[in-house]
Amino acid sequence: MVELGQIGHLVIKDVKNMGGSPRRRLINLLSGMLGDSYSMQYLRGRLLKFGGAQIAVGVRIRGPIHVDELKKLSIGPGSFLNCEVYLDNTGAEIRIGENVIVGFRVSMTTSNHDMETREIISKPITIGDWVWIGACSTILPGVTIGKGAVVAGGAVVASDVMPYTVVGGVPARMIKKLDLPKQKIAL
Ligand SMILES: CC(C)(COP(=O)(O)OP(=O)(O)OC[C@H]1O[C@@H](n2cnc3c(N)ncnc32)[C@H](O)[C@@H]1OP(=O)(O)O)[C@@H](O)C(=O)NCCC(=O)NCCS
Repeated sequence: MVELGQIGHLVIKDVKNMGGSPRRRLINLLSGMLGDSYSMQYLRGRLLKFGGAQIAVGVRIRGPIHVDELKKLSIGPGSFLNCEVYLDNTGAEIRIGENVIVGFRVSMTTSNHDMETREIISKPITIGDWVWIGACSTILPGVTIGKGAVVAGGAVVASDVMPYTVVGGVPARMIKKLDLPKQKIAL
């Protein structure tokens, strides 16, 4: 049987093994311990805000979520991040607008390695308001996704996406243009 003392020891060991600043490690650990109810999803957003991220009111995050640098993350009101989102923002900011839906297992990475020196080269990622990013997509460094755009599931987005268009594939190409928004969304 596992005793409470052992659990405490394991938690401290987990925090030590996580990497990053002690505060970020603690936030990551606590975030991972929260459940999946609506209130826990809101609480996860509040927790990231406490850690230094700019998280607007009403943001829901299912978790588990990986964020490299809480201070380089902003998420606008009404946005929802599904489970297992991976945000690699060590070198540059990730800005997510209002009423954005990020599907499960989406990853956004702001860093490339120089082909010769392997030095890290970082560029920010910007996700416009009312964007929907389909599950298992990857958003690469420097990409801006325009307002109201849709990224199809499994896409690898290597260049900017025009507002109100649907893109998909590897690398992502335009599939079609969208009508003007109805501004209705069910999260
Ligand atoms: C893109 C998507 C929204 C469908 O849009 P749609 O307007 O109904 O598109 P259609 O099914 O009519 O397909 C239009 C074209 O896009 C292609 N397409 C559809 N989904 C695609 C995808 N994920 N990747 C690449 N191409 C795709 C179709 O093959 C079709 O190509 P064609 O015109 O050459 O035949 C949907 O396929 C998708 O990817 N949904 C994501 C689901 C998801 O991630 N859910 C998690 C919820 S957070």
